[in-house]
Amino acid sequence: MKYYAPKGLYDIKPEEMPYWHAVEEEVRATMPLHGYEEIRTPIMEKTEVFARGVGEETDVVSKEMYTFEDKGGRSMTLRPENTASVVRAYLEHKFYGKEELSKWYYLGPMFRYESPQKGRSRQFHQYGAEAIGSDDPALDAEMINLAVDLLTSLGLDEVGLNLNSIGCPDDREDYIDELIDFLTPRKDQLCHDCQERLKTNPLRILDCKNHTCQSVVEDGPEITDYLCSECQSHFDEVRAYLSELNLSYELDPKLVRGLDYYTKTVFEVYSSDLGAQDALVGGGRYDGLVKLFGGDPTPAVGFAGGIERLVLLLEELDSVDLETRDLDVYLASLDRETKKRGLALVNELREAGVKAEIDHLDKSLQGQLGYADRYGAEITAILGPQEIAEEEVTLRDMETGDQTRVSITEFSSRVIEQLNSAG
Ligand code: HAM
Repeated sequence: MKYYAPKGLYDIKPEEMPYWHAVEEEVRATMPLHGYEEIRTPIMEKTEVFARGVGEETDVVSKEMYTFEDKGGRSMTLRPENTASVVRAYLEHKFYGKEELSKWYYLGPMFRYESPQKGRSRQFHQYGAEAIGSDDPALDAEMINLAVDLLTSLGLDEVGLNLNSIGCPDDREDYIDELIDFLTPRKDQLCHDCQERLKTNPLRILDCKNHTCQSVVEDGPEITDYLCSECQSHFDEVRAYLSELNLSYELDPKLVRGLDYYTKTVFEVYSSDLGAQDALVGGGRYDGLVKLFGGDPTPAVGFAGGIERLVLLLEELDSVDLETRDLDVYLASLDRETKKRGLALVNELREAGVKAEIDHLDKSLQGQLGYADRYGAEITAILGPQEIAEEEVTLRDMETGDQTRVSITEFSSRVIEQLNSAG
């Protein structure tokens, strides 16, 4: 074997597809119920969209982007996430002048140069939703509800919700000053990365996975104590709406999220069954991003979930129907002439919505019957020279071996009748 998929990039094989389809179908069914329309942005953007949108100091931008120069000498980046692209599209197409509230969802691959492990890959897939144009706390609550609802509809009961508010930039500035004052004398206890973060992005120290760093910040200041009255009342209202929706959550004052655009509400939905990579969904409000991209100040909120992690969990549940390639009809032909007629008949069946196949491997009749059996054909039809001469097709009951003849002209309707009566 000479070629392998690049490290951290995986094929999604046919046998895994039922899980992917289950997720995609649930997303496509649920999003419109909440008023979200699909948007598809390109898989790559000019690098500055993410550098500016997500933040130069974040791990995503500083360490994890797939950035390259295209043949025109432009710096391009494979999207590491979709929120910045969606906001770029919102402004580019002037949606602010067309609708008061843009509510969009998406599904698609994202790319981050991370160390691959279970549930973490370099190409991964997200589904997500973004609502641009409202600062209503009820929208935050609905967004969280939508994220949770999608998971529970897929049969995941054991999901937890972590919630926090990181306030507005002013609140955060005050808090970061306090955090730096608290951490500087304890700097030596922090891991190497966090010692760097203390200079570049101190908030990231709060969600470092290193145990010592965690115990250091444990006793440190909490951002929720630094919220201004507007951010505090927004947070109170989000919580009140969540209670209305009967959504239980845990307050996590250390939850800050890894992307710079967040303001006020942030949340993560996780499953304890996932181990270290436990966040299934992450999201929050980003009231400053549209302005950062040159638009009028426009509040927004959204989330994204990782499909690979979700599929890992679904594989453990028995809720997804795995029968995929089961055939309705297999048509065995015996030579070139019968195959020609057979091809037309199979085509007729497919046009009527019947899953039908014909031999492409030059198998003997016995071999073809074996193939039909392997793919669970409900009806196997045989078209030999004798049948052609009499303008008939033989239908074989795969269980009993009983055979009957029907006329070629009635073949499709008889087959469909038989399939319908079998239910
Ligand atoms: P994020 O937390 O970076 O947020 O990613 C959201 C989800 O994508 C994670 O919870 C996880 O399930 C999945 N994910 C992220 N990285 C990987 C990876 N390397 N391998 C597998 N799955 C991964 C965002 O991307 C924000 N854009 C979410 C958002 C939308 N906030 C507001 N609107």
